[in-house]
Amino acid sequence: MKKLSLALCCCLISFLSFSQTNKSGLAIIPEPVKAITKPGEFTLPKNITIQASSKADILPVTAYLKSKLAISTGALVTVKSAFPVPATIKLMLNTKADTVLGKEGYHLWVGKKGIIIKANEPAGLFYGVQTLIQLLPKEIESTEVHHIKWTAPLVDITDYPRFKWRGLMFDVSRHFFTKEEVKQYIDQMVRYKFNVLHMHLTDDEGWRIEIKSLPRLTTVGAYNVKKIGEFGNFSTPTPDEPRTYGGFYTQEDIKELVRYAKERFLDIMPEIDVPGHSLAAVVSYPELSCTPGADQYQVRSGERTMGDNTLNPSSEKTYAFLDKVLTEVAQLFPFGYVHMGGDECNKAYWAKSDSVTALMKRENLKTYEEVQSYFEKRLEKIVESKGKKFMGWDEIIEGGLGPNAAVMSWRGIQGGITASKLGHEVVMSPTTFAYLDYMQSDRVTEPHVYATLRLNKSYEFEPVPDSAESKLILGGQANLWTEQVFTFRQVEYMTWPRGFAISESVWSPKDKKSWGNFYPKVEKHFARFNEAEIKYAPSVYDPSFDAHMGADSLIRVTLTNEIPNLDIYYSFDNSYPDKFYPKYTEPLIVPKDAVQLRVITYRGKEPIGRMVTMPIAELRRRLGRGRQ
Ligand code: ACM
Repeated sequence: MKKLSLALCCCLISFLSFSQTNKSGLAIIPEPVKAITKPGEFTLPKNITIQASSKADILPVTAYLKSKLAISTGALVTVKSAFPVPATIKLMLNTKADTVLGKEGYHLWVGKKGIIIKANEPAGLFYGVQTLIQLLPKEIESTEVHHIKWTAPLVDITDYPRFKWRGLMFDVSRHFFTKEEVKQYIDQMVRYKFNVLHMHLTDDEGWRIEIKSLPRLTTVGAYNVKKIGEFGNFSTPTPDEPRTYGGFYTQEDIKELVRYAKERFLDIMPEIDVPGHSLAAVVSYPELSCTPGADQYQVRSGERTMGDNTLNPSSEKTYAFLDKVLTEVAQLFPFGYVHMGGDECNKAYWAKSDSVTALMKRENLKTYEEVQSYFEKRLEKIVESKGKKFMGWDEIIEGGLGPNAAVMSWRGIQGGITASKLGHEVVMSPTTFAYLDYMQSDRVTEPHVYATLRLNKSYEFEPVPDSAESKLILGGQANLWTEQVFTFRQVEYMTWPRGFAISESVWSPKDKKSWGNFYPKVEKHFARFNEAEIKYAPSVYDPSFDAHMGADSLIRVTLTNEIPNLDIYYSFDNSYPDKFYPKYTEPLIVPKDAVQLRVITYRGKEPIGRMVTMPIAELRRRLGRGRQ
């Protein structure tokens, strides 16, 4: 009896010591609600059988898993729908709904004899499959066959999302990205259980969706002049430079993307950004502008200046135009919401317009914010007449919000708090945590944007501020604007790893989030991305620089790493430091005549960060301005 209880005790201790996710070495992003690991592992056999129902809505899940396993394991993967059969992996829909799991949750068991994923809905099975893939060796991400032991740890996972809106926004207007690239983006998103792709389809630099009743939007509005360098500082296009750069999605392309997304349980929300950011529409149909001479405008190519890029809120032609656009857009996208922009409307041109002045008099509008509000409320009615819900950036609150408008809060969280208190639905997507176009480490290394957002700050994203009406916060989203993003490789670089951080903020329970748990997982996912040949930013390994002037008039530089246990080596003599150079241990005093500080980060003997060159003149410029 004594022996038995001792054995039981040992079992319990070893079980408990394995039951915390990170001690067990699991590296699932986003962190699941509950994961209990047990000693041991399951090895995939040479011939894999997936057992799943042949119901139409499960087929995409089965096909996805089959192809993922077949490509990198080289195994023969067979799908069987008959029950019961001995199977390696069973995908099962609950006959009686499990109330804990909801529509998107799942249970995943990896046992000694096989794997079972159970869910209430196919979406849950799909997310269970994503987690299973993350349990397998990193080579599962490869497109080549690997002859390795394909093991998964024994584990029992219960998981479901915190929010129903888990989005990324992709700006395909500033630079156009092809249909195939959008599909790649979707594939990357769903690995991390995102379920809304917000496509920013129109802006000053291009109109990207075919509207059959308004053909000039794409024959004229989809093209500008190709420029390379720093967007916003480009030379003014000359008449001999070809206007052939850009492109658009045909309606068939859009249908294909919507289908592709649906098979991956992701919705696409279109954004038609009006009344500002509308130069491509104005160039295509100059009668939409309230400014004389708009017929001379051209689609912007990233040059510094631009004419009136707003629609005329006082003209019926504008509303007739929007009605036509929305008739077609609403038919193409099954998602319930259409985003109508509303951000950064330059009202200076409205102030010069007699027609807008007359509108203000007629409608008793006192400010230009109220003019925008008049416009938004009419627009909301048009959107609703097409059977959709109206969403806009938080500027739409300013002159008074329409009755049912949903708000995407980007200028911080206050807009979202205010809108939720007024009874409106909100998606949080604040610049402070969720702007993927911002630089990821110091501006001396990253392509220039006006602000920085490091991974550890992104990871602090909390979609529900204390004072908000929490029931109305649908979830959160990160936004990738692409002014400075010229290629799809750079899209990946900007999105990952901050996308990992956002996925955990919108899926995982708040109390499951911890930076100490998260960053080792990020590094494991870097290794997976290496296999998948997806680019990511290694910026997390580059230090932050803080400069201040000492009483002795010499500059002090403090270097800070985002993750612990890294060593920084440096030089002031213009040579390239390595681990035989001085190691950073305390703030550096910049020698009086030094022209640059070079640093590189190591983990043990391995260089892990990039060689960062910081001109001393740049440090001088920053003095007193805080961390960059
Ligand atoms: C925005 O970033 N202008 C919504």
